[in-house]
Amino acid sequence: MAKADTLHRKGFGKSSRRDGWWVQPGLTFLVLTLFIVYATWSAFQNAHYAWGPYLSPFYSPEIFGNSPHAWLGPKPEWFPGWLPFSPALFILPFPAGFRFTCYYYRGAYYKAFWADPPNCTVSEPRNAYTGEHGWPLLIQNIHRYFLYAAILFLIVLWSDVIKAMNFDGHFGVGLGTLVLLLNSALLTFYTLSCHSLRHLIGGRKDCLSSNKATLACYSCVSGLNGRHMLFAWMSLFGVMFADLYVRLVSMGIWADWRIV
Ligand code: FES
Repeated sequence: MAKADTLHRKGFGKSSRRDGWWVQPGLTFLVLTLFIVYATWSAFQNAHYAWGPYLSPFYSPEIFGNSPHAWLGPKPEWFPGWLPFSPALFILPFPAGFRFTCYYYRGAYYKAFWADPPNCTVSEPRNAYTGEHGWPLLIQNIHRYFLYAAILFLIVLWSDVIKAMNFDGHFGVGLGTLVLLLNSALLTFYTLSCHSLRHLIGGRKDCLSSNKATLACYSCVSGLNGRHMLFAWMSLFGVMFADLYVRLVSMGIWADWRIV
């Protein structure tokens, strides 16, 4: 019998694997579900997303809103009254789209959410593989455009870190400053390790050695790219915790610890 036949038995969830192949997709399902539920809840709150110099990354940039961080002032009059208003709803589609179309997350949630397949060499609940060459999954190719938006968001988030050192006109560093800084750093590593960025920087070229700067950038992004999965998860927890931190400090449940 061929080796592949001994590993891959027919019938949903059937496999000759003896390890806990279901643990990884199970954890992915739990963590991503938790994140989606929390982020959706937080985005609709339209409250407790800013405190002093801190602004939650779920609400940044705040284009319209009631906090002092808003670029264009409060909710505009032209905004339809029947629609729920929250500054986060204007901007979250961009980072959400970046993560949803990420090559790593696609591999993870295809397994965890629609068992395609549940894991390597484990049978899936369908006979045909349609893949990403046709609709609707063809839309995943939009990832490179979300990358451009993600780079712009990084600029905004780093400017938020600088603003988070301004306490009523005086330089200072609070625990919230460090939380926002850590979040921006993790998101930067996640973005700079992106497969699309690696392709953009040099992967699409036949010869890299003719340009030393391109080769150096490509090597740098390739080094980070090897840890893309790690950065994907760490930045997911980081952004959720940064929102939670600002929220709880704003609600008076946590006190911000002023370090400098
Ligand atoms: Fe994961 Fe681009 S491949 S962010």
